[in-house]
Amino acid sequence: MPYDPRPRSTASQRSAGADVLIIGGGIIGLATAWRAAQRGLDVTVVDPSPGGGAAQVAAGMLAAVTELHYGEETLLALNLESARRYPDFTAELEACSGQSVGYRPCGTLAVALDSDDRAHLRELHALQRRSGLESQWLSGRECRRLEPMLAPGVRGGLRVDGDHQVDPRRLASALVTACERTGVTFHRGWAQRLTVTQDRATGVVCSDGQRLGADHIVLAGGSFSRELGGVPPEVLPPVRPVKGQILRLTVPGAYAPFLSRTVRAVVRGSSVYLVPRQSGELVVGATSEEQGWDTTVTAGGVYELLRDAHELVPGITELPLVETRAGLRPGTPDNAPLLGPTALPGLLLATGHYRNGVLLTPVTADVMASVLIDGGLPPEALPFTSHRFSHLAQEQPV
Ligand code: GLY
Repeated sequence: MPYDPRPRSTASQRSAGADVLIIGGGIIGLATAWRAAQRGLDVTVVDPSPGGGAAQVAAGMLAAVTELHYGEETLLALNLESARRYPDFTAELEACSGQSVGYRPCGTLAVALDSDDRAHLRELHALQRRSGLESQWLSGRECRRLEPMLAPGVRGGLRVDGDHQVDPRRLASALVTACERTGVTFHRGWAQRLTVTQDRATGVVCSDGQRLGADHIVLAGGSFSRELGGVPPEVLPPVRPVKGQILRLTVPGAYAPFLSRTVRAVVRGSSVYLVPRQSGELVVGATSEEQGWDTTVTAGGVYELLRDAHELVPGITELPLVETRAGLRPGTPDNAPLLGPTALPGLLLATGHYRNGVLLTPVTADVMASVLIDGGLPPEALPFTSHRFSHLAQEQPV
């Protein structure tokens, strides 16, 4: 059944004047707010510090092709669609905000260091080809010709010219400015509890005691989406935090250009990637750990990332290490996002983007604005409603 975008709340149900309340001012919430405000809606974003969250940690790879996994072919279509929208999305955002977001169409090279890695990469290549994706098998020598800093032991690789990158911190900052310039209101506080009146979501109560009301509530809280109180168990999004530790290094002028594109590999079963920015920053990521809400940076995590990155690109040990950080990916049972209406009228989801939050930002924002305005989910979003998990009994957080 299509979502009914018409305001339903009566004066007694609604306690303040927004059309849309967006819970969470990460890049998903901000981009949704920006798009909805562009289309004439009165939007409030609730977040203690808009522009924070996972985008402050993420590397910003737009890796639809190199992060393809078995069983995620449906998600692939959404990832590709969002990647296709990136150039226009960033151009429009830069024009609106007056800020660069560091979109870099540099491509990616996925390499193998031993015969097991090479077999894994061959499998990935076959899957990519079956999925109609562009990627080219290269010998070790061809890989090193493209990226001379690679280790002499590199055995082969996949050149994927369509997997690019953006700088998520710049993206978040530009989205905050674009939202401000488009008339989005920010309520700087935590949304603590959803208000439900006569079987409809009508607002939230914030940690400062303030009550905010709106016709539509979009839950875009990333890993925290399941923590909002007052959400009926059957519509609580099945999202869990998945920890990722990440490093930031700097490439001094004397070493530039260190890498010209994203370089990645699976080393002894662990994924490692190096994302070189135009600014000279080099991001090395990431661990993937089921540790609940823990965001501690551990010696073991940093060691493993540096060890694996060093095997790929030995010269990395010469570079200054400027930052270590851990963030939380919002994982779902099938690794795909939750988009659009829920079984509770007035409550919509834009969460659960797991490894692809940065990549999926443009398409998520368009989809959410569309459903808020027209009521219908665009076809690309139909497989991603929360209804696919309606069989899961959701428990209230304690
Ligand atoms: N997409 C990269 C990561 O989640 O580590």
